Amino acid sequence: MATTAGRPQDNHINIYEDHEWTHPTQVAGKIWKNPVGTASGTFQYAAVRWFYDVSQLGAVSTKGCSPVPWEGNEGPRTAEGPASNLNAVGLQNPGVDHYLEHDLPALKEAGAFVIANVAGHSDDDYAEVVAKLADSDADMLEINVSCPNVSHGGMSVGTDPVALAKLMDRLRPMTDKPMIVKLTPNVTDITVPARAAVDHGADALSMINTLLGMRLNIRTGEPIIAHTTGGVSGPAVLPIGLAAVYRTRTVLPDIPIIGIGGIDSGEKALEYLYAGANAVEVGAAALFDPVAPLRIARELDVLLDERPELADRLAAGRTWR
Ligand SMILES: Cc1cc2nc3c(=O)[nH]c(=O)nc-3n(C[C@H](O)[C@H](O)[C@H](O)COP(=O)(O)O)c2cc1C
Repeated sequence: MATTAGRPQDNHINIYEDHEWTHPTQVAGKIWKNPVGTASGTFQYAAVRWFYDVSQLGAVSTKGCSPVPWEGNEGPRTAEGPASNLNAVGLQNPGVDHYLEHDLPALKEAGAFVIANVAGHSDDDYAEVVAKLADSDADMLEINVSCPNVSHGGMSVGTDPVALAKLMDRLRPMTDKPMIVKLTPNVTDITVPARAAVDHGADALSMINTLLGMRLNIRTGEPIIAHTTGGVSGPAVLPIGLAAVYRTRTVLPDIPIIGIGGIDSGEKALEYLYAGANAVEVGAAALFDPVAPLRIARELDVLLDERPELADRLAAGRTWR
């Protein structure tokens, strides 16, 4: 294992040989060198920088950033589920000032295409973070509207299309950076908030965030996670993410969509592209296999070699359906 001294790119261990990417995609006019990025909260810069060259990914979506440092929830914060994991980390992060001073410059220096993920417990929180990121080096912003929000009675903005429209009306004029709205699947019909986000200025959508779930300890009869409930992610959520992308693509034919949920192989990433996504983000798979996003990008690159029509469409900023 490399030491922690020096610049990350001097130290990382490339388990993969260099690769020439031939199948780019476009998300809201931005070119990604391949259609695979990391999903927010599952990419730990400090943890993975030794394993691979982050500039090789289509994009790196960083952990949700709040106006001030958040300590997150009490432990236990995680539990396992069938083909899934459950987390209630509580959006722990060191705050936007730290992000601008440390994480973002380090990632940019390493050549990453960075999506800054924005978290907030109120509309004011979101506005404060977006104001600070507006002129930063971040390539895109991803507004995570799944956070519990006091401006909206503790409900996440993503479950209320009227609240979402109001939030976007406030954030949209604050920056020229492409704004991705990351949607929660914890709604009856995800196309309703999707449409509200797009009508009020979203340049792209990403979906899905985690699903509400819980596990109980059958010795004590109590929830395993201190927060009681958490977010479910991992292989089990793949069909839910695919349906969300497919249905949204049907009603919004032109909006760029980043598909997320349960991706742990190039084949599953490909399935999202056939559902109508322009790109994908890999989440929980990286928790047990830190190089999963790059492995999946390479697997997908081979699969796209064999599918020139899909590859051509993605490169031109279009989608399969
Ligand atoms: C430990 C953990 C932390 C997460 N933190 C965030 C976050 O800060 N912001 C966000 O938008 N999504 C967050 N997510 C959701 C993921 O980005 C992703 O949408 C979700 O896990 C589904 O994808 P997956 O099945 O590939 O994990 C988190 C997920 C996990 C497992």
